[in-house]
Amino acid sequence: MFIRRRRGWEIPEREVTPESAMLGRRAMLGATAAALTVTASRSAGAWELFGGAPVKPVALLPLSAPRNAKYDAGRPLTPDSEATSYNNFYEFGESKSVADAAQALKLAPWTIELAGMVKSPRTIGYDDLLKRMSLEERVYRHRCVEAWAMTVPWIGFPLADLVKLAEPLGSATYVKFTTLADPKQMPGLHKPWYPWPYTEGLTMQEAMNELAFLSVGLYGKTLPPQNGAPIRLNVPWKYGFKSAKSIVRVEFTDQQPMTFWEGLQASEYGFWANVNPAVPHPRWSQAEERLIGTDKVVPTEIWNGYGAFVAAMYSDKTKERLFA
Ligand code: MTE
Repeated sequence: MFIRRRRGWEIPEREVTPESAMLGRRAMLGATAAALTVTASRSAGAWELFGGAPVKPVALLPLSAPRNAKYDAGRPLTPDSEATSYNNFYEFGESKSVADAAQALKLAPWTIELAGMVKSPRTIGYDDLLKRMSLEERVYRHRCVEAWAMTVPWIGFPLADLVKLAEPLGSATYVKFTTLADPKQMPGLHKPWYPWPYTEGLTMQEAMNELAFLSVGLYGKTLPPQNGAPIRLNVPWKYGFKSAKSIVRVEFTDQQPMTFWEGLQASEYGFWANVNPAVPHPRWSQAEERLIGTDKVVPTEIWNGYGAFVAAMYSDKTKERLFA
């Protein structure tokens, strides 16, 4: 049987909700949870999953952490309202306007499996994990393979700290991230042509690089579902699709992991996916990027401008498709 696979990035611009419409719908709600004051970033509305009961918006907790000034993005921040309303999260749909549908994401209890080539495989609760990590804020440039970009203040901790906690065996050479795939919460899972669950991978060396970051918040709040709550990856020298959202499993392996986008269309989306303006995507140029929330288009930089931190990792990989 012939199945037409829709390519991941073939999203017509007409499917994108106008930013003004999204902004007009936003309001702050008060609530409480645990010992903290809770604020919700989305207005109450008829969020209906599969035409069922309205879904209550996820309440966001205030979250503050000292900003690490070492990572200066050199650009103004993208407004919070834009970064949280223009998203890619295919589990909730193929348009940029997935924020409403993503409110169905059940965030507690949340556990993360530390699996594969580790001293002792185990599952750790999200709250437990957070108690062991020291949070910081980092402002990173975030460059999507679709040629748009944002500048976001993420709150989280270095991926290297999670790797140390997991105690991988010396023979592990890659880290594979698997994200939540629950068809009851995620309408996108019913599209069988995608290779669910969403997976991503890094080499151990990349995972230990100081820039690799696990985010649990942004703009002084816990992560909204549409941005990958409760925990997502940020690897700012790579295209945004490497930033796996809503991670449930971190596996250490000696095999290069197959990733969601590589599994879907290997000729267009490779394992490495490092940003390079000189290497076009097969269907469009990567020379420039559109800054979301402005009418500006600026030149893209190799390694997304983070070469001083990461270029040396690739000096011996001359035969790899590093920029696809
Ligand atoms: N993670 C999951 N689980 N599902 C996705 O569809 N999309 C990726 C990445 N992580 C995606 C994901 C893509 S294509 C991009 S560009 C970024 O998330 C977008 O992150 P943002 O919405 O926070 O800007």
